[in-house]
Amino acid sequence: MTATLAHTRQELVTAAAGTHPRAVVMTMGALHEGHATLIRTARQLAGEDGTVVVTVFVNPLQFGPNEDLDRYPRTLAADVELASTAGADVVFAPSVEEVYPGGEPQVRLAAGPMGTRFEGASRPGHFDGVLTVVAKLLHLTAPDLALFGEKDGQQLALIRRMVADLNFPVEIVGVPTVREADGLALSSRNRYLSAEERERALVLSRALFAGRDAASGGPSAVRKAAAEAIAVPGADIALDYLALIDPRDFTEIARDDFTGEAVLAVAAKVGTTRLIDNVRLAFH
Ligand code: PAJ
Repeated sequence: MTATLAHTRQELVTAAAGTHPRAVVMTMGALHEGHATLIRTARQLAGEDGTVVVTVFVNPLQFGPNEDLDRYPRTLAADVELASTAGADVVFAPSVEEVYPGGEPQVRLAAGPMGTRFEGASRPGHFDGVLTVVAKLLHLTAPDLALFGEKDGQQLALIRRMVADLNFPVEIVGVPTVREADGLALSSRNRYLSAEERERALVLSRALFAGRDAASGGPSAVRKAAAEAIAVPGADIALDYLALIDPRDFTEIARDDFTGEAVLAVAAKVGTTRLIDNVRLAFH
C-alpha cells in the first residue's frame, strides 16, 4: 500500500491517540514573566493530563566569541520554582557535557539564507547554533507541541521553517511578546541594564509602536514613523537595525504595495547590552 505524507502523519497521530500530549518550552534560564507565559500556555494546551517539560540550557553553540556566554545569568533554583508555579511538570537542565558529549558537534544544522539576515548578520553562526540545539532538544524531549516567543521573531520563523523543511513531527506554537507596563519587552538580558539605561531602552518599543500605529499608511509610512521615533534627541543608543520584514523569509519589505503580515523589528545596544524587539502588523 502507498500512502501520502499527510496520511502517514495522520496515522502516527491516531496511533498516539489515547496518550496525553506533551508540550515543551525551551529556555536558557534566568526565567521571567515572558517564559512563565509560555509555560502557562503550554499547560493550557497540554491539558491537565498532559505533560509540560521546560528545558534550561545555556547553549554555547549559539554564542559568538565576544558575546555574553560566560556572564549569562544562571539562576537554576529560582528557575525551577518559577517553572513549577507556572505549571511545569519537569525541568530538564542538562550540563554542556550531557548535551555535547563529544565536544562541539561535527554535524550541525544550517539555517540557510534566512539565518544570515538581521540577527544572523550581526551574530554569524548564531542561528545554526540555535537550530542545532533546538533539534537536539526536540529529539530528547519528543514533544507533540513546542512553544516559542514572538519576541525572538527570526528564531521563531527559522524554527517553523526547520520543522517544515525537515519534517519534524511537532507542532510549533508562537506566543505573543510579554512586556512591562511601560512597553519594554521582557528579556533575561534586561537585568544587565542600569536604571538609566533601562529608561533609554524604552525608545525601542516606542519606535515599534509608532510604526505599528502608522500601518494604515502602508510600508513607507511605517518606516518613517518608526525612524522618527527612534531618532529622538538624547536617545543615546547604538542602532543595529530598524527594519520592516516579511516574516516568511526575513527579507526586507521593499515594495510599498506589499500586503499581508509583516514584522517591524529593531536591534540596538544600550550601553553594552544588546536588545532586540519586534511587533507584528498587517497591510491590507
Ligand atoms: P531564551 O532567550 O531563554 O528564551 C526562551 C523562550 O522564551 C524563547 O522562545 C523566547 O522567544 C521566549 N521569550 C523570551 N522573552 C519573551 C517575552 N518577553 N515574551 C514572550 N516570550 C519570550 O530563545 C532562547 O532562549 C534560546 O535561543 C533557545 C530557543 C532556548 C535555544 O537555545
